[in-house]
Amino acid sequence: MKFSKNILCIGAGYVGGPTMAIIALKCPSYKVTVVDVNEERIGRWNSDDLPIYEPGLLDAVRAARGKNLFFSTAIPEGIRAADIIFVSVNTPTKTFGLGAGMASDLQYWEKTAHQIVTYSEKPKIIVEKSTLPVRTAEAMERILSENKKNIHFEVVSNPEFLAEGSAVNDLLEPDRVLIGSQQTESGFKAAREIAAIYAHWVPIEKIITTNLWSAELSKLVANAFLAQRISSINAISALCEKTDADVAEISFAVGSDTRIGFEFINASIGFGGSCFKKDILNLVYICRSYGLNEVADYWEKVVKMNDYQQERFVKKIIKEMFNTIVAKKIVLLGFAFKANTGDTRESPGIYLAKKLLEERAALVICDPQALENARKDLAGLEGEVVYEPDPYRATQAAQAIAVITEWDVFKKLDFEKIFAGMRKPAFVFDGRNILDHRRLFQIGFNVFPLGKPSLTHF
Ligand code: NAD
Ligand code: UGA
Repeated sequence: MKFSKNILCIGAGYVGGPTMAIIALKCPSYKVTVVDVNEERIGRWNSDDLPIYEPGLLDAVRAARGKNLFFSTAIPEGIRAADIIFVSVNTPTKTFGLGAGMASDLQYWEKTAHQIVTYSEKPKIIVEKSTLPVRTAEAMERILSENKKNIHFEVVSNPEFLAEGSAVNDLLEPDRVLIGSQQTESGFKAAREIAAIYAHWVPIEKIITTNLWSAELSKLVANAFLAQRISSINAISALCEKTDADVAEISFAVGSDTRIGFEFINASIGFGGSCFKKDILNLVYICRSYGLNEVADYWEKVVKMNDYQQERFVKKIIKEMFNTIVAKKIVLLGFAFKANTGDTRESPGIYLAKKLLEERAALVICDPQALENARKDLAGLEGEVVYEPDPYRATQAAQAIAVITEWDVFKKLDFEKIFAGMRKPAFVFDGRNILDHRRLFQIGFNVFPLGKPSLTHF
C-alpha cells in the first residue's frame, strides 16, 4: 500500500508505544514506525507480550500492527524514510556532574538529534514528544542546522499529557493537544501539519497552538500543578492525624467548590511515577539557573512534602508496631506507583521496602502487575523479600498489611479470611484509604488510615 505520510517515533517506551499505536489506528493512510535501541523492547512490541501493561493497549496494537504500525530497531532507515519524526526518548534526572539530582539528563535526546542530522536526506518536521526543559528546541534547532546537506528541519513541541493506567483513553479523548511552534511561516505550517494528524479524531477546539517555549514550559507546569495538589492534601493529612479531622471528608468538602474540584486531592502515601518528581526538580533547576530562587524554593517544597509523607508512613508503621519490626512479616499490598500499571518508577513502595528491610522486617510484596519490576527494584538488597501475587497466600502468618497501591482487587478481598490467617495483633496501614476501615476494625484488625483517626483494640 502507498502511504500518504511516513511518521517515525524514536523511543518505544510508555509514551512512544501507546501514542503511535493510537495515531496508526486513527490514521490508516499514514505509515507509523516506532524505533528503539532496545532490541528486547522492540521484540516485545512485536509480540502479544507487550513491554508495558496498559488497559486496552494490546487491542489497539493488534488492530494496526503489520498494517500501518511497525516496530523496529532500524533507526537509520527509519530516519531516512520519515517526513515527521517524534522524539520520545527518556529524559531522566541527571545523576552526575553539573545539576546532578535536579536537571534533565539530555544525553539520549541529544543523541537522537545527531542521528537525525546524520541520516536525513530530505526536510522533516521534528516533534519534541519527550518532556524537556524550556528552550530545548533552541538547542535542537542548532544541532539540526549544523548539516552540510542544507536540509531544513522545523522543530515543534507537542508534549504528551497521558497518564499511565489510562493511556489509551487519554490518547483517544485528550483534554487538549498542545502544539508549540516558531511564530514564522514555516513554523505555523509545521504546527498545522501536526494538528492535522490529531484532527483525525480530536475535536479541533481541543488542539491548542502556542509558541515553542510556552508549549515546552506548559508541560512542566501541568505536572507541577498536579503534584502540588497532592502535596497540599498530604500536608493536611498530617494535621488531620493530630486533630481527629478526616482528610477524605476534607477532600470532599473542599473539592465540592467547583473552582477547586475533586481531581488530585486524594491523600496518599505520596506520589510516584517517572515524571512528577523529575519534572518539578527540573523546573526548580531552571528557575535557579535564571536566578529565581524564591520561585525555585516554592516548587521544591512540593517534592519535599512528598518525601515527608513517605517518611511519616514508615515511621508510623514502626511506632505502632511497638517500635520494633525485626523479623515481623509485613505485606505490601501493591508495589506499582498507581493502579492499572506495572510501572514502579519512583513508587513509594520502593522507599518503604528499603526502610522496612533496614529495620529487618520480613517483607512480602503482592501486586497483580508489578512483581517483575519490584524484583528489579529490590535486587541486591539485604534481607528477606518474598514476591507473591496471591493476597491470601501473601498474608498467611503476617503481622501487618500496608496498602501501597489502590488496585481494585484489594478492595474486594475477604478480610475475615485474611485476618484468620494472620498473627495477632494484626495491623493494617492503609496508605491509600481504599479499605473499609470500620469493618476491618470490627473483624479485629488495628487500623491506621491516612489522615483519619486510627481504630485500635488497645
Ligand atoms: P521510557 O524510558 O519508557 O522510553 C524511552 C525509550 O527511548 C526507551 O525504550 C529507550 O531505549 C529509548 N531510547 C533512548 N535513547 C534512544 C535513542 N538514541 N534511539 C532510540 N531509542 C532510544 O520513557 P517514557 O516513560 O516513554 O518517557 C519518554 C518521555 O516522555 C520522557 O521525557 C517523559 O518525561 C515523557 N512523558 C512520560 C509519560 C509517562 O507516562 N511515562 C507521560 C508524559 C510524558
Ligand atoms: C502524570 C500526569 O497525570 C500526566 O498528565 C503526565 O502526562 C504524566 O504524569 C507524565 O508526564 O509522565 P502519571 O504519573 O502516569 O501521570 O499518573 P498520575 O495519575 O498523575 O499519578 C501520579 C501519582 O500521583 C501516582 O503515584 C498517584 O497514585 C498519585 N496520586 C494521584 C495521589 O497520590 N493522589 C491523587 O489524588 C492523584
